[in-house]
Amino acid sequence: MQIEFVAPSDAESASGAWAGAVFEGGGFSAGAARFNGAAGAALERALAAGPFSGAKGKSLAVVAPAGVGVSHALMVGVGPEPGFDETVAEIAAAEAYQALKTCGAELLTINLAQSSPTKSARAALGVSLAAYRFDRYRTKEKPDANPTIKTVRIVADDPAAAKAAFAPLAALADGVAFTRDLVSEPPNVLYPEEFARRVQALEPLGLAVEILGEAEMAKLGMNLLLAVGEGSARESKLAVIQWKNGGDSAPLAFIGKGVCFDSGGISLKPAEGMEEMKWDMGGAGAVAGLMHVLASRKAKVNAVGVLGLVENMPDGKAQRPSDIVVSMSGQTVEVNNTDAEGRLVLADALWYVQERFKPRLMVDLATLTGAMVVALGHDVAGLFSNDDALADQLLKAGKASRDELWRMPIVESYDKNLDSLAADMKNTGPRPGGSITAALFLKRFVGDVPWAHLDIAGLAWRKPQVVATTPEGASGFGVRLLDQFVADNHEPQRTR
Ligand code: BES
Ligand code: MN
Ligand code: ZN
Repeated sequence: MQIEFVAPSDAESASGAWAGAVFEGGGFSAGAARFNGAAGAALERALAAGPFSGAKGKSLAVVAPAGVGVSHALMVGVGPEPGFDETVAEIAAAEAYQALKTCGAELLTINLAQSSPTKSARAALGVSLAAYRFDRYRTKEKPDANPTIKTVRIVADDPAAAKAAFAPLAALADGVAFTRDLVSEPPNVLYPEEFARRVQALEPLGLAVEILGEAEMAKLGMNLLLAVGEGSARESKLAVIQWKNGGDSAPLAFIGKGVCFDSGGISLKPAEGMEEMKWDMGGAGAVAGLMHVLASRKAKVNAVGVLGLVENMPDGKAQRPSDIVVSMSGQTVEVNNTDAEGRLVLADALWYVQERFKPRLMVDLATLTGAMVVALGHDVAGLFSNDDALADQLLKAGKASRDELWRMPIVESYDKNLDSLAADMKNTGPRPGGSITAALFLKRFVGDVPWAHLDIAGLAWRKPQVVATTPEGASGFGVRLLDQFVADNHEPQRTR
């Protein structure tokens, strides 16, 4: 799909579909008022006929209005006029796209945010995010379920300025789509090696990518990560992605859990819902998407993304509950449950990152615990941190990006629940507070560096669609959050 920015005068003669903003209480935006005039007051009559009053999230369509060239005219509610900000513009444009995407027209003109370049740019971002589809494996979709829109024109007072403001946001949308593709792919296609290949293909963006295989990881002593992959026919990989555009400063480090399929291993999961565990690599997917964004928009920062890529399978070669494994840190772990595999992968990855990169801070993302979904549901992810300043930066970035976080406590008195009779620790504790125990386990592999752990178990996959910018399926959660976090706190001047 193509996105263009056009001046209001160019939108008057629009063909195809059209969408314009209506403020709560029925007030037309400038574009809607002009359209209404050209269409012989068709919008006004429709407004008078129905309960639609411009509330956010509501819209009303007029089909084939007389006097204008468009097939569908959609009035999109944007709430009260004083509250019409960038976020409202973004979501309203996404709603307009969703409402009209299969209407039959190939061109959609969206006229709601022309007042400022940033609003127009955010409207374009909304459309880009809303238009994501994973249709690689569909061969028989009904024609009326197939999007017809090929071009979206965003009306802007200053189209050139809007286009410039959209550039970093287009990079963001590309990164989110990259993550969504990774998370959507089935595990027979996207296993660790294929994940690594797709990351390697990002090198032309200016990223330096290294892929470590099992032999290299064995040499480093990453036995916890390797133990998880023992039952898999696929080779485990560690992807190391570097973006260097921040001078001599120590890098920010982002670490992702990349379990391409989590069957539970010998501690096998029940059949029901097991298919969801194809997206147990959502943390690694988000880190890969973030690196894509940082490189595409040439962020002025040094960042490293490390992905622990494994498949957790039951097999004669698989690790057993009660196995004791020596981690890269030297600490020994009794694996009492092979389904608590994410923390094993992350423990070695976190250690590796600290030793090799001496990072300024570390943020890990992981679909780590079912308990996180029980605690917080699907609208906010859990944030655990050993550093209040870092936690606050992330919470703020969460609000600004709408990838929202809620801070969880690291309750030290639960740490003893990880005590083992035979080793330095076991990998699980009792069910109560399971997300906290997982964070405490990770903390044992983190030194003094500021660190945050994001448990995104409830967020990597969204069903049903809740916001028009995130269609049902892979959400890309975390990409926007971390891009915002980097831009707001770790670049010399804000790039947007
Ligand atoms: N990948 C799962 C966590 C998960 C569950 C994510 C449901 C999203 C939805 C993780 O590897 C896991 O299996 N965790 C166990 C830990 C337990 C064995 C201590 C869990 O949450 O049940
Ligand atoms: Mn598991
Ligand atoms: Zn898992």
